[in-house]
Amino acid sequence: MRAAQLLLVLLAGPLAAGAAEKKAEGKAKTIDELAARFDSSRCRECHAEIYAQWEKSHHARPLMGVAGGLMLTPVVKASAFQVKEPREATLGTFPCFKCHLPQAVRHAEDSVAVELTQALFTAADKDRPDKDKAAARAKVAKLQITCVVCHNEVAITHRRVLGAPEKDVVYGRKDLASHGDRIMTRVKRSAILDEPIFCGQCHGTGPNFEFDYPIQCATLYGSYQHGYLSRGGFQSCQECHMPRAAGGSADHQFLPNFDDKASTAALLAKTVHLDVQTLGYQWLRKAGALTPMIVVNTKIRHDAGHRIPDG
Ligand code: HEC
Ligand code: HEC
Ligand code: HEC
Ligand code: HEC
Ligand code: HEC
Repeated sequence: MRAAQLLLVLLAGPLAAGAAEKKAEGKAKTIDELAARFDSSRCRECHAEIYAQWEKSHHARPLMGVAGGLMLTPVVKASAFQVKEPREATLGTFPCFKCHLPQAVRHAEDSVAVELTQALFTAADKDRPDKDKAAARAKVAKLQITCVVCHNEVAITHRRVLGAPEKDVVYGRKDLASHGDRIMTRVKRSAILDEPIFCGQCHGTGPNFEFDYPIQCATLYGSYQHGYLSRGGFQSCQECHMPRAAGGSADHQFLPNFDDKASTAALLAKTVHLDVQTLGYQWLRKAGALTPMIVVNTKIRHDAGHRIPDG
């Protein structure tokens, strides 16, 4: 079987891309293999602006933590999921993958979790030289929520009825018979891409009870449903977080970006409101003894479609 496939590659040079895809059908064994399968660097060529926005967003570094504080380190070192040695790690060590790296759940072998744990141990090891630590961080940074993750892997939620996403399709907001990308050669409409449920898959509803040690992280989608829609809110996540400049495409920066203090402060200044009412008066406690008094009413409100901060 192997030999036959190899022969096919040799005979059909120009079809090599097709053969590489065939090979990719098993699960990825290494971080590099998993990253390559969801690699989106080729999208930059034609979607340069969107790419530049995504690259700076938190979706491009979902395992790096805010301000680079590798947040999976405490998971493997000091949690119910901790391991003594990297080789003990499995995909089950990282329930976080459900939302921080959904492609690992379906497309990675346990060996990817072992390699990731090795990198986390190295990056946290005071005695290792800086260059090893930097290489370990660079390895973790390869694991991203890429264009292909959102526009293929998580673009269909109702798989029982609609089936799994097709390899040669990029899921968008409309159907197009052809698409310039060499692998994803067609565009199909995703039923959910422009709906809040799309974001809700990862932005959480509450505790995740399906794990043998339940965890809770993002719960913002629950808050959107129960504290915003139920009070008459009608905007979608996309409308607020992926605005379109006149004639431009949907913004892929996904602000707020907590690594950029200036833009986050500017966003908060615009969207968090402090209303203050004051009343000054004099209290005549007894004849000739006027005591100055003040009443201050403050109300803080915000424009978000959910509780803030979330988590
Ligand atoms: C060779 C150029 C090229 C490459 C490479 C390319 N695209 Fe496209 N893409 C286009 C063009 C052109 C359109 C059609 C734009 C239109 O008519 O709205 C398009 C449309 C899309 C749409 C649908 C937009 C909508 O309105 O719903 C999505 C999503 C998309 N591309 C994502 C990607 C992703 C993800 C990649 C990388 C895996 C990629 N593209 C690579 C040229 C390219
Ligand atoms: C239900 C999906 C989900 C699960 C499961 C999940 N997270 Fe998250 N997590 C998110 C989302 C979405 C955000 C960002 C959105 C926000 O802040 O509201 C986030 C943000 C974070 C942040 C703050 C941002 C940062 O990068 O520093 C940390 C830390 C974090 N997660 C750690 C974890 C760890 C560790 C696990 C596994 C033990 C985990 N999460 C499991 C969805 C999840
Ligand atoms: C595949 C899972 C996934 C999907 C789908 C997804 N997100 Fe996220 N999102 C995350 C994770 C994980 C983070 C946190 C990354 C980190 O640790 O910094 C995040 C971060 C963010 C942030 C930055 C704030 C923060 O806490 O880091 C915003 C804003 C955001 N997402 C909005 C959206 C919106 C709007 C949608 C839908 C259009 C969406 N996301 C879809 C997983 C997802
Ligand atoms: C976190 C998920 C997520 C990631 C990552 C992501 N997209 Fe999108 N993308 C969306 C959503 C959601 C929409 C639809 C927005 C809307 O409905 O307004 C969209 C819309 C688009 C469109 C149509 C633009 C338009 O104006 O209608 C293109 C093209 C596109 N994305 C390309 C890309 C490319 C290229 C990348 C990687 C650089 C990428 N996307 C990464 C979620 C994502
Ligand atoms: C009505 C507009 C609006 C809607 C709808 C909305 N958001 Fe937000 N969101 C905001 C604003 C504004 C902020 C940040 C500024 C602030 O904190 O006031 C924010 C903050 C966030 C953050 C950062 C969370 C934090 O802890 O500070 C995430 C993540 C996010 N939104 C995701 C989503 C997702 C996912 C949806 C849909 C389920 C959604 N938002 C719906 C306006 C909106």
